[in-house]
Amino acid sequence: MEKIVINGGKPLKGEVFVTGAKNAALGIIPAAILAETPSEIENVPDIQDIKNYITMLRKIGATVEQDGNTLRIDPSGIHYDNIVNIEEESRKMRASYYMYGALLSKYRRVMLPLPGGCDLGARPIDMHIKAFEALGAKVEIKNGYLNANAEKLTGADIYFDITSVGATINTMLAAVMAEGTTVLENAAKEPHVVDAANFMNYMGARINGAGTDTIKIRGVKELFGCNYSVVPDQIRAGTYMMAAVATGGDILIKGIIPEHLESVTAKLIEMGSKVIEYDDAIRVIGMKPIKAVNVRTMPHPGFPTDLQQPMGVLMCLAKGTSMITENIFESRFKYVNELTKMGARVTVTNGNVAIFHGGDKLMGARINATDLRAGAAMVIAGLVAEGETIVGGLEHIDRGYEDIVGKYASLGADIKKVNFEE
Ligand code: UD1
Repeated sequence: MEKIVINGGKPLKGEVFVTGAKNAALGIIPAAILAETPSEIENVPDIQDIKNYITMLRKIGATVEQDGNTLRIDPSGIHYDNIVNIEEESRKMRASYYMYGALLSKYRRVMLPLPGGCDLGARPIDMHIKAFEALGAKVEIKNGYLNANAEKLTGADIYFDITSVGATINTMLAAVMAEGTTVLENAAKEPHVVDAANFMNYMGARINGAGTDTIKIRGVKELFGCNYSVVPDQIRAGTYMMAAVATGGDILIKGIIPEHLESVTAKLIEMGSKVIEYDDAIRVIGMKPIKAVNVRTMPHPGFPTDLQQPMGVLMCLAKGTSMITENIFESRFKYVNELTKMGARVTVTNGNVAIFHGGDKLMGARINATDLRAGAAMVIAGLVAEGETIVGGLEHIDRGYEDIVGKYASLGADIKKVNFEE
């Protein structure tokens, strides 16, 4: 079994290029099947979740060619009956829920297993279902499957009780070719929501307001393939920013949109580090001592829940007590047990608040990635720790981080993948 072995303590220095956002690409790729003609999508990250999606598309009959970070998707061979072939893949990942919206839009029906993905506590899809029903579908959950049928989809006014990235993108997918106008209130504003909407608009959709609370979708009769480039991944960019601070390094992170990282930049400056923004890059110079701060995760433009785990590592190292309040997911502090094995002192209270006592010297240990973003945090902890850290659970990390070992090695880290016998 492959694990990452790190000899920590080296400040990271140099440049790193960040490709497109996982969560944007995972909305865009299923959107591409709504057109009858091919799309060419650039800047697609080379990660396991995308490979999984490519497999799903091929198994339902699409032709998908991959050349580096570019995908060419020809949906003309897709046949509804093939969806029985993608049950295994759809169970593996959270974002397989976008196949519900896309297939419902294209065929007015879909029956697939409920989605998998990271265990972050209860992750209901009730708002996805509510939106499909508002558009005119009959939806049933039975024996671990979602089964939705609609004679026709009709535009509707939909209010989301909670801001949800998944429900917002999925409803756009379902409503883009519905008859009439759909209005989404309390929509998610994440850059990947805007990117999925932009892609569909390039295909001929009429979606306005993505990036605000209210999105208006005027249904169109057909969509056509287009050329598109996926928005840079602000979560991976933020992860490198924090790796620079943790190791007291100096990294230039290229190919990104600094505005998408304002909540992170503000916190890192508050922690005493230097952050210099360029048009499409950010330079982070980690300064010691790291100052203690408090963070509350919020929907965009608030501090992203997907970056609270690397932030937790910084808080272990900071001088003084810091606190994270996790407002999005109920169970996202499993990683602190792993940090404890390295000598961190962290108290989790009420399930959604973690207090980091700070001033900890992390020591190398055998630790595990408990989920995707926790995995990114474990690697940063290993980069800082004294001695050897062995990180297991790479299947989580590979789902979302492109060549994480190669990228950190190019920044001067002593890091490699090693195959361990069981
Ligand atoms: C997406 C991202 C994930 C990120 C999260 C929050 C993808 C593939 N994944 O996940 O990386 O951590 O946004 O930014 O894009 N909720 C409901 N009912 C629903 C849907 C959501 O109660 O029908 C709740 C969730 O339990 C959670 C909150 O709404 O508490 C936000 O979840 P959501 O934005 O939907 O997250 P995901 O789409 O699962």
